[in-house]
Amino acid sequence: MRSYDSVQHVRGESKFVDDIAAPEGTLFGYVFYSPIAHGKIKSIDFNETLKVSGIHAVITAKDIPGENQIGGIILDEELFASNEVHYVGQPIALVIASDRVASHKGVKKIKAEFEKLKPVFDPREAFEKGNLIVPPRIFSLGDVDSVWQQCDYLIEGKVESGSQEHLYLETQGALAVPIEGGGVKIISSTQGPTAVQKIAARVLNMPMNKIEVDVPRLGGGFGGKEDQATAWAVMAALAALKLNQPVKIILPRQEDMRMTGKRHPYSSDYKIGLNKDGKILAYQSWYYQNAGASADLSTAILERTLFHSTNSYFIPNVKATAYCCRTNLPPFTAFRGFGGPQAMFVIESAIHKAAHVMGVDPSFIQKKNLLKEGDEFPYGQKTENCRAVKCFEENEKRFDFQSQSVRVKKFNDESKLYKKGIALMPVCFGISFTTTFLNQASALVHVYTDGSVNISTAAVEMGQGVNAKLMSVASRIFSINPDRIRIDTTNTSRVANTSPTAASKGADLNGYATIDACNLILERLKKVARELLSADESSTIEIKDEFVHMNNTKTDVDWVKLINHAYVNRISLSAQAHHSTPNIYFDRTKMKGDAFAYHVYGTALVEATVDYLRGTYVIDSVKVVHDFGTSIHPVTDRGQAEGGIVQGLGWMTLEEIIYNDEGKLLTDALSTYKVPDIHFAPKELEVHFLEDVPNPYGPFQSKAIGEPPFMYGIGGYFAIINAMKEFKPDKEIIYNAPITNEKVLMWLHSND
Ligand code: MTE
Ligand code: HPA
Ligand code: MOS
Repeated sequence: MRSYDSVQHVRGESKFVDDIAAPEGTLFGYVFYSPIAHGKIKSIDFNETLKVSGIHAVITAKDIPGENQIGGIILDEELFASNEVHYVGQPIALVIASDRVASHKGVKKIKAEFEKLKPVFDPREAFEKGNLIVPPRIFSLGDVDSVWQQCDYLIEGKVESGSQEHLYLETQGALAVPIEGGGVKIISSTQGPTAVQKIAARVLNMPMNKIEVDVPRLGGGFGGKEDQATAWAVMAALAALKLNQPVKIILPRQEDMRMTGKRHPYSSDYKIGLNKDGKILAYQSWYYQNAGASADLSTAILERTLFHSTNSYFIPNVKATAYCCRTNLPPFTAFRGFGGPQAMFVIESAIHKAAHVMGVDPSFIQKKNLLKEGDEFPYGQKTENCRAVKCFEENEKRFDFQSQSVRVKKFNDESKLYKKGIALMPVCFGISFTTTFLNQASALVHVYTDGSVNISTAAVEMGQGVNAKLMSVASRIFSINPDRIRIDTTNTSRVANTSPTAASKGADLNGYATIDACNLILERLKKVARELLSADESSTIEIKDEFVHMNNTKTDVDWVKLINHAYVNRISLSAQAHHSTPNIYFDRTKMKGDAFAYHVYGTALVEATVDYLRGTYVIDSVKVVHDFGTSIHPVTDRGQAEGGIVQGLGWMTLEEIIYNDEGKLLTDALSTYKVPDIHFAPKELEVHFLEDVPNPYGPFQSKAIGEPPFMYGIGGYFAIINAMKEFKPDKEIIYNAPITNEKVLMWLHSND
């Protein structure tokens, strides 16, 4: 089964924001941003800009009729800097011109003077200075302090993980068109149409019903458009209403990389205590999250770090503390895994170091501590249908970990300049927005008189295949050919109050809502069929493969005939349904609750080869056993797993975000920021679907897939580190991701 719009994509026919035929008179906006990391705006002069031919206006904070405030959770982010700037890349003004070239020229002519203030870039330094966005968050279970003395091994350490650029193929952008009555229609490349609508309403001082946000599809989001698509959409709307002309903003790649936030870098400390059997008795961790200059989604991301602090393990005594540190970098934001990967890298580093001290393989400790049925997470939820052990053991068996270890050892004994390393990486990821109220969605389904079906939901298609899944569930409920079904754009006038398509919940929430809406219509249709066929009460009526079946016998009433009959009998062929995830809650006063509908489990086996002379490495293979539940759309799920794994490997290995000591992004192009390509991708990538694992909490027994596989990439780090260790068994290991070729080379050849 192919993906929903793959054919269009391949033919170049899919329309992204910049491809949509712009209305006559569309103007272009280009952003002028802060060149310094921290300071006061002393003066700003647009006179030369306004003289450039084609310039229509310069928009600043002064033009805002409502609030100059785009903060989603915490109100700490201006749309345009008014007095102070807090990072290089912070928008100050928007130049509007009749074409792109003029808008760029106009920005170049702006003269601005700043009074520099001292910036802070390091989260630990921000913490020392008391620059926390919210008070520390703590999750705890048992009592770590009473257990340390009982431990045979106590290990402490520091772990660093770096940022990551989303590099969605379609850069941030929006097209805003004024509509009659003083309203505005915004076509936005956003994961959160309602966030755009709500914040546009706040900035424009206008009711939400005058703002229509439409999202045809995204050329990728990966979390980067959950919150951070809003600014550009709101700027376009503001300019469009001011000038009463359509306005388009499309960030050029380099500007997008400079101005938008990325994955949060973390600096972490840990203390882990084990007994001599390898059981982890206690684990304490401290996360210094580099939040950037404003909160954005940092607090929610910080919490997910705590939720995943113990990854796939049961640890009876845990204390995890997280600090949301304000720095002078662009506000860091959601990125696949949403703080989970950062937490998992810390616990895996702790286990790795402990294994080194104990003289055992890390997999020995991993296996000893895997979650079992009924085990309690540090947030109080207990596991249900726990498949941590099943995935781990199935991986060991299927990919024969023991004999692979023997083969790798033999290779290393014989090879001088190349060494191999292998690592297992178990993953346990919670499915639900940890902000409970976001776990809702709705669907609007229309059946037209020709039997074709149109579905609108809150889900945004960003390449993850949610549309293919929605089409699949609707075709199953109606038992009709999927070709009859079209998934419409995501539109706030058709589907209101949407949660962002995020937290891997898009297909679950909107899938359920679609099922419910389709069922409402199906029930009406069955009643119509019953009348049409003069069936009595005891007869069974079903639709199977486009035909009405009565008492399990096919009738001559087909789908189109049935629909027509319903229509002429004045039966509604439209339905709306709302779904909310039942039985989840999280109590922030206690930091406890059944926050997740369910968990996704899996284990990866990663092998890498390191070249001693060059410091380069190859990821030889990634072999995964993953719990997909009962997949609604296996091709899509496999694609999500493979893509996630490669993106995770990129974060851990090649992708290095570097700012200079004035907070300017140095890695702002693909020549300086290296992402995985086909040559880097693992030579072998095998993803095995765990069998007979229905999930009662997912539509048609499926499981969410978007984020969990990303974290298998962490195994790549340890495979590389293990190979490096083969060259220098006694040298202190570094837990500082990404493990770039440069770092490998330095580690292998420096004498410290
Ligand atoms: N896959 C593609 N191709 N493009 C994307 O932008 N985003 C990821 C994941 N997979 C993304 C993707 C992220 S961060 C999330 S949360 C989920 O898809 C969101 O979609 P879902 O909830 O429908 O799984
Ligand atoms: N995941 C993604 N986005 C979110 C979440 C989450 O858990 N909570 C709030 N926004
Ligand atoms: Mo995904 S980081 O929840 O958009």
